[in-house]
Amino acid sequence: IGNKQQGTKKDKYRRNYTSEGRQILIIYGTEYGFSEEVARNLHDRITSFNSTSGTLNVEFQPRTINAKHYSSIVWDQETVCIVIISTSGDGVPPTDARDFYEFLSKSSPNMSHLKFCVLALGDSNYPQYCKTGKVVNQRFLDMSCNPILQCELVDSEDWNVINPWIDKVINLLPNIEIEVKMDYLDLEGLGEGEGHSRNNPFMAKLKVKKQLTVLDDTEDRETIHCEFDIADSGLTWTSGDALGIYPDNHPIYVDNILSLLGINGTVCVDPPVWAYITDKDKIRIMMALMKFYDLKHVKPELLYEIKASLSESLRSAEYEHLFEIFESDDALVQYIKTREVMDVLEEFSAVMSIDMTPEKFLSLLKPLQPRYYSISSSPLIDPNTACITAAVVRYKSEEIQKKKEGVTTAYLQDRLVVMDTCPVFISRNPDFRLPSNHEIPIILIGPGTGLAPFRAFIQEREMAVEHESVIGPTLLYFGCRHKEKDFLYRNELETWHRKGIIQLRTAFSRDQDRKVYVQDLLLEDGNKLWHLIYQNEGIIYVCGDARRMAHDVHYALLEIAQVQGHLSETDATKYFYELEQEGRYQKDVWV
Ligand code: 2AM
Repeated sequence: IGNKQQGTKKDKYRRNYTSEGRQILIIYGTEYGFSEEVARNLHDRITSFNSTSGTLNVEFQPRTINAKHYSSIVWDQETVCIVIISTSGDGVPPTDARDFYEFLSKSSPNMSHLKFCVLALGDSNYPQYCKTGKVVNQRFLDMSCNPILQCELVDSEDWNVINPWIDKVINLLPNIEIEVKMDYLDLEGLGEGEGHSRNNPFMAKLKVKKQLTVLDDTEDRETIHCEFDIADSGLTWTSGDALGIYPDNHPIYVDNILSLLGINGTVCVDPPVWAYITDKDKIRIMMALMKFYDLKHVKPELLYEIKASLSESLRSAEYEHLFEIFESDDALVQYIKTREVMDVLEEFSAVMSIDMTPEKFLSLLKPLQPRYYSISSSPLIDPNTACITAAVVRYKSEEIQKKKEGVTTAYLQDRLVVMDTCPVFISRNPDFRLPSNHEIPIILIGPGTGLAPFRAFIQEREMAVEHESVIGPTLLYFGCRHKEKDFLYRNELETWHRKGIIQLRTAFSRDQDRKVYVQDLLLEDGNKLWHLIYQNEGIIYVCGDARRMAHDVHYALLEIAQVQGHLSETDATKYFYELEQEGRYQKDVWV
């Protein structure tokens, strides 16, 4: 047996070798051919690397394929995969890469052994800049693959970004080879455990739910703290990681949708391929809609199906608006963007009957996606309890004048009660990490729920102090609307400040006439910050809103480098770009 096992391991270790050497899989997804050009370029560089690297006794064998041929890939036999993929128009994958993209979102190939990196191409004039590449990168991370580089974004075919990226990949090749070897050696000791993941989430019990904000007549923003019991799940995380949560849709929406379609909720259907349940027996359609289908985002196909039965005899001034939706792609996109599935069905069923079989209707819906929340507690404090900090999303839609809510946060706040369970998994965030050396200064910038991962970071620094380690300066920049209403974890933060664990700086934006934001405090502290960053090689962390906050904070940092460090604007930009590449300027931001 011993020999047989050894033989298997050896085969495994060798599985990605051809007679020529180690294979590197390059997958490109392209609309106009540019990503292919980049892929060919990388391919050639890897080939010529072989002849110039005298010290490595392995040849790298690049294999470049169009994403449309993804089904020919035997994932189990790959070790290194590099994806070069563009984003078309409003955030969609290139035509040829759509199936690959769908495949990554819906299936669960065993890829955790894979090393990967993604080059995401796009045009920053579009709101969903580089979305395809970012999503692909996230999917690989969700499947526990190991990134060799963080996802690189390229704006408008910029070779000034692409060439250095290719250089980085080439420089990493020797390391990759060593790491791959180490991985296979590790695997031998580990065995093949079936862990919980995005495709196989763990049913975690909600242990605690707390309101962190004070609600009154003028303030309606709620932020909640939830604690999930993940004991015996085998799930582990590192501070900086996120918890993926699969919500339930609102049962009332499900009910309304079914009655608008005249479908009985007890009708049984096959669960969709992406359903995270292991038992693939038929389930009631109301259960399928509640757990597995996205009722918020509307697929154009749903509208096309409805259009097919929109009779010309309905054309009249009163119903003209329904016909207008189909007059141009833009009109259709605009309509879809501002409606949920229920809104669409309500509007059309008011004038016509929408006739669809349950199976047809389900085929016109998107999969319900999990949502990700930075874990706001450290596993060193309690590895069995993962906390999250979530702002409950509720708003009024201007276009259709209806109250709307965020699927997951409303589920957590309104429907999930303590002792209930919900499906969770860990999503790794390897680019957002505390340094292992606690003496390194850290600057944490996290207004609102951007505070979440920093709570975990600070817990770890406090533990280091308790173990009599010396910690470096730990500056926390927190911002909220009102000191008395949404100062999240106020007691904890003030206690840490008092104990000297952190230097707490707060910006209460609405407590005075003039808005004060975290970036204003950064500028006030410019001299001290520049010293910590430049002389003491501190690390800057930014977490929270990507659209405005992270952008404004970046400009404040550039200003500090110019004023305090006397850098030119170009040099300041370059300096922070380099810090980012070195992992000394880390961001965990979302839109
Ligand atoms: P505001 O809502 O009063 O504008 C958490 O949401 C905090 O971040 C709030 O105090 C909010 O202020 C503030 N905020 C809003 N826009 C910001 C920006 N561009 N930069 C930094 N903080 C911002």
